[in-house]
Amino acid sequence: MHDDRDDNNAVSRSVPDGTSAARLAERGLRYALVDTASDAVLDAWLQADRRGFHAPAPPADSMPRRRDAIRGLRLIGVWDDAAPAGARPDVPIATTVSWPNELTVPGGALPMYAISSVTVAPTHSGRGIARAMVEGELRAASSAGFAIAGLTVSESTLYGRYGFGPAAMAAEITIETGRARWTGPEGPGTVVFVDINEAPALFGAVHERARLLSPGDVSTRGDFWASLTGADEPDAESTRARRFVVYREPDGEPTGAAMYHLTKHPDVFSKHTLEVGCLTAASDAAAGALWRYLLSVPLVQTVKAPLRPVDDPVRWLIGDFRAAAVTVVDHHWLRILDVPRALESRTYAVPGRLELVVRDALGFAAGRFSMIVDDAGRAVVARLADAPERDAGADASPGEHMELDAQALASLYLGGVSADVLARAGRLGPRSRGAVETVDRMFRTARAPWLSTWY
Ligand SMILES: CC(C)(COP(=O)(O)OP(=O)(O)OC[C@H]1O[C@@H](n2cnc3c(N)ncnc32)[C@H](O)[C@@H]1OP(=O)(O)O)[C@@H](O)C(=O)NCCC(=O)NCCS
Repeated sequence: MHDDRDDNNAVSRSVPDGTSAARLAERGLRYALVDTASDAVLDAWLQADRRGFHAPAPPADSMPRRRDAIRGLRLIGVWDDAAPAGARPDVPIATTVSWPNELTVPGGALPMYAISSVTVAPTHSGRGIARAMVEGELRAASSAGFAIAGLTVSESTLYGRYGFGPAAMAAEITIETGRARWTGPEGPGTVVFVDINEAPALFGAVHERARLLSPGDVSTRGDFWASLTGADEPDAESTRARRFVVYREPDGEPTGAAMYHLTKHPDVFSKHTLEVGCLTAASDAAAGALWRYLLSVPLVQTVKAPLRPVDDPVRWLIGDFRAAAVTVVDHHWLRILDVPRALESRTYAVPGRLELVVRDALGFAAGRFSMIVDDAGRAVVARLADAPERDAGADASPGEHMELDAQALASLYLGGVSADVLARAGRLGPRSRGAVETVDRMFRTARAPWLSTWY
């Protein structure tokens, strides 16, 4: 398996991007890597990050843990050293953080450059600071050798302009328990409560297996499960409200885990809402058993699961299809930086030949590429010279050809949307007659891509 640690060292040490540094310096702003050896500098960065997402300032006694959680990452800040008297010049006016993780793709996995905590203080918004930081991170990712970058978003209007495309959707599923008679099979294992102290390790171990079954999912960082479960803040009110269950196989092995909390109905005690904070499972039996458990908790009228795969089988496991309402939202946004390496990292449903012309305003993915997929579903992708006539005699017959932009390529990459849909939406460029159908037959996946967490 891929070892994140080598990439992590390379990423966290690489210098911030010179182009963005110069662009921001013209506006009197200092763009730099955060000195992670200094507690005071880390605290100021954390303060800016929390402020950017409207989160309360963290309790003082949580700072050592929070510092440790980010110390190994690539932290960037932008400082306005000319801030007027009274402002805190040590607190950055903008932040980002990046780290390497691993993205599951059909037939395998590849290293991904994860970007998060993109914030710009409202006092400095609208001046191109976020653009400088995001473009800087993409250049850093590309020069560190990453074929792909990814992020989850607060607004879906932000990142298309940088060549990110929504690649894995999420389903928000709401089920009326009174109508949802269980019709699915009964798993052989057992659902048991677990204590919060055990939850991070158990959830992390189950997810580590589950994520490899789901293109679009990612590996998680060291502190992730302690933070998601709340085990790092056991006294917080939100943590104390959580319940944790694990599905154990007959031999005791945990293969599924779910976390939830209940909200009272204002008037009727038997009408609680159960909100699922996480449901991760390494087998269909485990996922089914956990769904069945969640739908049978007493005094609950509604179960809400906000981050499920769009092809979650749950509607086929209950007696009334309309007991479940499903809303689909964009969730995992990907950015292809190296077209041959990204396309060669996944497998394809059928053999075929394609010529892709990718347009990319930032340059990373731009070019003409030939793609040949063999009978085993493995692709060989080569960059072609730009002028089509120069390749007229090339060995690899181009087959069908399609022009598209980097955003469309990212959205097609995991099979999360079909070329047919993008073509009907006018999102693809000029193409040969059979190109859409060929792309869809090749890129199709049995399972819809899904990212099971936020990052
Ligand atoms: C979103 C945010 C980072 C933008 O920062 P900013 O420095 O004001 O953005 P920029 O001035 O660099 O704008 C870059 C581009 O994004 C656009 N943009 C900025 N905010 C936008 C928004 N909320 N919705 C849509 N487009 C937006 C700008 O119009 C500009 O477009 P262009 O360069 O194509 O002309 C900032 O408002 C913020 O911190 N928001 C709260 C935290 C957050 O949600 N962060 C995103 C996490 S995923």
